[in-house]
Amino acid sequence: MSETTILRGRLLRFAGDPFEIGAEAALDYDEDGALAMRGGLIVDVGPAGRVLADHKGARVTHAGERLIAPGFVDCHVHYPQTGIIASYGTQLLEWLNTYTFPEEQRFGDRAYAEAAARAYFDEQLRNGVTSACSFCTIHPESVDAYFEEAARRGVRAIGGKVMMDRNAPERLRDTAQSAYDDSKALIAKWHDVGRALYAVTPRFAPTSTEAQLEAAGALWAEHPGCVMQTHLSENGSEIVWVGELFPDCADYFGVYEKYGLIGARAIFGHAIHLTPREVERLAETGASVAHCPTSNQFLGSGECDVKGLHERGVNVGLASDVGGGSSFSMFHTMKAAYEVAQRRGASLSPVHLWWLATQGAARALGLGDRIGNLAVGLEADAVVLDLGSTPILRHRMARAGGIAEALFAQIVLADDRAVAVTLSGGKVVYDGDESMAFGPGET
Ligand code: GUN
Ligand code: ZN
Repeated sequence: MSETTILRGRLLRFAGDPFEIGAEAALDYDEDGALAMRGGLIVDVGPAGRVLADHKGARVTHAGERLIAPGFVDCHVHYPQTGIIASYGTQLLEWLNTYTFPEEQRFGDRAYAEAAARAYFDEQLRNGVTSACSFCTIHPESVDAYFEEAARRGVRAIGGKVMMDRNAPERLRDTAQSAYDDSKALIAKWHDVGRALYAVTPRFAPTSTEAQLEAAGALWAEHPGCVMQTHLSENGSEIVWVGELFPDCADYFGVYEKYGLIGARAIFGHAIHLTPREVERLAETGASVAHCPTSNQFLGSGECDVKGLHERGVNVGLASDVGGGSSFSMFHTMKAAYEVAQRRGASLSPVHLWWLATQGAARALGLGDRIGNLAVGLEADAVVLDLGSTPILRHRMARAGGIAEALFAQIVLADDRAVAVTLSGGKVVYDGDESMAFGPGET
């Protein structure tokens, strides 16, 4: 049996969903807390005095003044776009043609895909992101590279082969049949293997024929344990285009409805410009939305109504959407979500924002009972944050009146420099703070 290890420090977790019970009730904070882990899972969590007394002889690592928090979850990202993050200008459709498609064509080369996967996971872990749901490319090699690198690092990863058989360069098109066959083989190879989960991944309605959307629906129906990820109502020109391509459907969401691509494990990126009917159907079908605020600002797509969606019963998680998104940092992403909400006149508290970047994103992927919080039975994915990682943060934190104020200052001012250590399945997967001497300590 593996031994129990304990991490002691300031400890942040969630007692519930702040959108339902309010920010104050949802926040669970211990000034001197402890997280006990064994066999990759959390076995205890709470005030240090009690946890240490109940686990005598356990190995204890002291995080000091640092904050122990749930690992961040990024519920919509494109790992193959790591190399084109920060590409200048234009809106969605032109950006896809100018930067994204040329880069994605290179992922048929296995070595290229492996190098990109390494760079991507380095960046995610440096930013404290312990789980993500990523699009790959149309190439099965890109999926193998992604899951193999995730397994090497020991992190939970969700992802799938992009299905795309029209309105893309020839070298980036599969067919309805080959997309079905390749995806099915990849599901057999990767789904529920170790910490990997497969996501059926039709890119978005305009790049799939009706035959391919039908194949995607059939594949998901055969493998209902998989996630289904795609894009929805991100950009005005995109929506007009979908209307032209699918004139018999009521709206954009109606296309996915027609082909069985809706349900509890369906996650739709963006979902900005929705009709009341689409919002109602998202809620009724139990689908989730991945809110990608840095991307929406970067590509000038618009502003998702996070609060409105929640009020109407749609679950929302936060996501980077790199490379449309401009940062791997969930601090930057939370800050952008705050700013987007402000523009809509609907403020989001720091607790709401932090929840969206952890438990909200986990729930959007149907994984709220496995990741995204620090609670007994969940996988031991956590970050240790230095709350004074820059001069201005040290200056500001000296004046923070309480934990909520401290969290907000981090959201606005912190970045990857705040991430001291990232733990996945109870193991250190990134150590940016040698002064913490992660390892054996006294009980
Ligand atoms: N819609 C279809 N493909 C993409 C993509 O790669 N990024 C974004 N932001 N939107 C998309
Ligand atoms: Zn996307």
